[in-house]
Amino acid sequence: MSDGRSAGQAGDLGGEPGASALLGKTVYGEPEDAGHRVHVSDDAEVEAYLDTALGTEASHASAIEPAAQADSIVILDFGSQYSQLIARRVRELNVYSELLPFDTPWDQISRSHPKAVILSGGPASVYEDGAPHPDPTIWSSGLPILGICYGMHLMAEALGGSVVSFERKEFGPAVVSVTSNDGLFAGIEPEQAVWMSHGDSIERLPEGFRSIARTDSTPYAAVADPNRRLYGIQFHPEVVHTRRGRDILRNFVLEIAGARQNWTPANFISSNVEDIRRRVEEHSLATGTDGRVLCALSGGVDSAVAATLVHRAVGDRLTCVHVDHGMMRKNETELLRTAFEQLGVKVVVVNARERFLRKLEGVIDPEQKRHIIGNEFIRVFEEEAARLGRIDWLTQGTLYPDVIESATSSKEKAAAKIKTHHNVGGLPDDITFRLIEPLRYLFKDEVRAVGAELGLPDSMVQRQPFPGPGLAIRIIGEVTAERLDTLREADWIVIDEIKAAGLYHSVWQSFAILTPVRSVGVMGDGRTYANVVAIRAVTSEDGMTADWAKIPYEVLGKISSRIVNEVPGVNRVVYDISSKPPATIEWE
Ligand code: XMP
Repeated sequence: MSDGRSAGQAGDLGGEPGASALLGKTVYGEPEDAGHRVHVSDDAEVEAYLDTALGTEASHASAIEPAAQADSIVILDFGSQYSQLIARRVRELNVYSELLPFDTPWDQISRSHPKAVILSGGPASVYEDGAPHPDPTIWSSGLPILGICYGMHLMAEALGGSVVSFERKEFGPAVVSVTSNDGLFAGIEPEQAVWMSHGDSIERLPEGFRSIARTDSTPYAAVADPNRRLYGIQFHPEVVHTRRGRDILRNFVLEIAGARQNWTPANFISSNVEDIRRRVEEHSLATGTDGRVLCALSGGVDSAVAATLVHRAVGDRLTCVHVDHGMMRKNETELLRTAFEQLGVKVVVVNARERFLRKLEGVIDPEQKRHIIGNEFIRVFEEEAARLGRIDWLTQGTLYPDVIESATSSKEKAAAKIKTHHNVGGLPDDITFRLIEPLRYLFKDEVRAVGAELGLPDSMVQRQPFPGPGLAIRIIGEVTAERLDTLREADWIVIDEIKAAGLYHSVWQSFAILTPVRSVGVMGDGRTYANVVAIRAVTSEDGMTADWAKIPYEVLGKISSRIVNEVPGVNRVVYDISSKPPATIEWE
């Protein structure tokens, strides 16, 4: 159920320790200190505005649970930076996987009736005081278990073997020799390129285990007790550098654990639609309310998919609100309106363009722009919600990574940040909304697959990220209607040409910036003195770090000549070749 668009690949492979420490750092220190930037998807930002406007936090929100018809694999997270990647790799096999904290009690693990358990890697050593351990019941559960790296050491130690600190620590690419090509390594060639990261090693195997792969430095690169379906591997099958890693996981999940491949967009949609319908109906009957649902549409993929799914379940009880702040890209609001009207969804598009422009008059400071736009968003939502009458449910496009990180969730941080920056009136405290978060068990690429299955247009489902404050933070200096038009036209050409060159999906973002610089040019026989437009295109895994994209010169040339010829008032185009850090992706 994956298109792999944002699958963690090379960018995740900075080596086990250290790499993630740099994520999100700016020259000013921690991301929290980098002004009002919100490191979340545009959807999460707009949702946070809605939360703030409606005072959701003060209410008793309850989330809908996933329908649990799919076979599942539980992954216990011992702190590896690759844990989420394991979950995604399993899901790419169309098998549902759940990432749970390492100390999740067995009662809770068994509730989802997993077909197997995977123990992730982690930075600790099993022999250290305070090293994290799973609920010991897993060892006698009879379930197949795959221990990866630290997970393997835990298994060895728990079942009577021993683990020692390794003199020849190995981090990075290595070659293992597979000595038993059945079970875990069925169909795998004897010499394998893998991604190794270990400072510890098994010294003595537990009873019943044997080695199934070795390297020059350890006889226990992989171990197995096939009778009990217990397996351990010292290397990381989830990262792309382990060339046959996906096949190894496939062998474990499908062959050894016997999981059925029933995690598909179509199954997800049907079980969730039914679940949402039932819950809304039951609540309505119990409370005597109409069961009305509100969804804020940002134009981003998450809210679009969430709204469409909920609409299938509750039909006309859903009302979507889209605030058109005038900072959207060309045709975006119209596309949104048409796509949803075609699906029969009620969409209220609030034309607040004038209102936002007036507030932005004379403002050139980036922080102030964000502040003003956020505040105004909240005001508009408050007014719209009041107009709509009683609302019982809110739909949000919260994704699985936010759920996993719930305590430190980027979305919660965004909400907190937005709240600290806005002096919000809010609605009366006694309104209690319930939350419908139909995507809270999905990764981003799965959301795209569900969106496509629901019939949403590609232009919406495959859209590049777009910041909540929109074009306002891509116009350096004052935002005016005229400058917005100029940037919208230039931006359209960038996207058009990037798409024509087949690059739209391989870059993270590609867009235009209207600089406050004017330069001299010559057009026809005349001298011009006009605007400079900058082009920004970056590659990235998650927006936290980024590299400028090596767009072919011919494509850049075409973009440049089209902008200068087609967009009035622009006579020069430059390409931004800064990476992040130290630059950010957006210019403001
Ligand atoms: P920066 O510019 O900080 O951007 O490197 C990282 C990612 O976040 C997006 N971005 C925002 N998204 N509201 C948002 O919803 C914002 O205020 C905002 N600022 C930046 C940016 O487009 C990139 O994907």
